[in-house]
Amino acid sequence: MQRWAVNLQDSSWQNAAETRAVSAALKAGELVAVPTETVYGLAADATSGLACARIYQAKGRPRFNPLISHVESLDAALKHGNFDKRALLLAKTFWPGPLTIVVPKVPDSPVCSLATAGLNTIALRVPASAVMRFLCQSTGLPLAAPSANISGKVSGTTADAVISDLGSSLSYIVDAGPCPIGIESTIVALNTATPVLLRPGGIAREDLEAALGTPLAEPFPSTAQCAPAAPGMLSSHYAPRAAVRLNALEVNEGEALLAYGGTAPSASEKAVMNINLSRDANLAEAAAGLFSALRQLDTSGAHTICVQPIPAEGLGEAINDRLQRAAAPRQ
Ligand code: TXA
Ligand code: MG
Repeated sequence: MQRWAVNLQDSSWQNAAETRAVSAALKAGELVAVPTETVYGLAADATSGLACARIYQAKGRPRFNPLISHVESLDAALKHGNFDKRALLLAKTFWPGPLTIVVPKVPDSPVCSLATAGLNTIALRVPASAVMRFLCQSTGLPLAAPSANISGKVSGTTADAVISDLGSSLSYIVDAGPCPIGIESTIVALNTATPVLLRPGGIAREDLEAALGTPLAEPFPSTAQCAPAAPGMLSSHYAPRAAVRLNALEVNEGEALLAYGGTAPSASEKAVMNINLSRDANLAEAAAGLFSALRQLDTSGAHTICVQPIPAEGLGEAINDRLQRAAAPRQ
């Protein structure tokens, strides 16, 4: 595996020899970890069954869980998905950005059926990440990219986290530093009469509902156990090794503390490790640090990570969604 550090402030990386090597690896069906504004993605050619099979194998991901196809623009997305008025509105309002749109798949889209797990729908995203969009453009390919972590575990928001989970499966990792949003994209399904919020994420429900002028429905069944519409909907997901205890008002012996806001829980001195997601109670800052904090607290050896209450509005819905799944009984 080769690690290639890019400085996004300076566009010279686009002409570097490494960019050509990474594009060539993707065209050859190899796996490349690519930073996005949400989390690192484990990217491969979405049109190649073999390349997508490598993604499932590397992550240990069940094959019934489809992958998001990343494309460089709405125009490129239209080759793969049938966008109705609502889908076009969301795409034009929120792309490039942390929104994934599920629409009916165009029958002659070259995206392979393994990428969509055989569904007649496709999940499409135009990320804000300049690196991902550039690689889609330079390869001329839609890139399938799930979060770059072992299936069911905490997502990777730094190159080190990705390397520790998946390093041996990668040809390259493009290291652009920590991901600024830190939590996955919001997924909205628009193949239904009512738009459905399949996964809360980097764009708040309130902003999507304001754009659509209608409330987003909940997925059904709400905690799918057997055939989830999205694997992030499995009740146990995003799980660290330690147990997770939510809404903690006090710290118990031997616990690590994931704190939030300016007021410490009682007995906080008992915490074997203590990370505050945002002393100012800023939800965007908390989302950006969430997965790194869970990984770091896990290294403390604590049997349990206790988490202070985090408000559920705005990005807090996605943060609480990830924490509830991290706390769910393990399968
Ligand atoms: O921010 C993100 O979305 C990151 C970055 C890398 O783009 N990707 C990501 O991928 O979180 P992943 O595979 O961890 O989650 C993708 C979710 C899964 O829950 C999957 O089931 C859902 O998207 N999905 C993909 N295709 C779908 C479809 N056709 N219908 C419903 N859900 C779909
Ligand atoms: Mg994931």
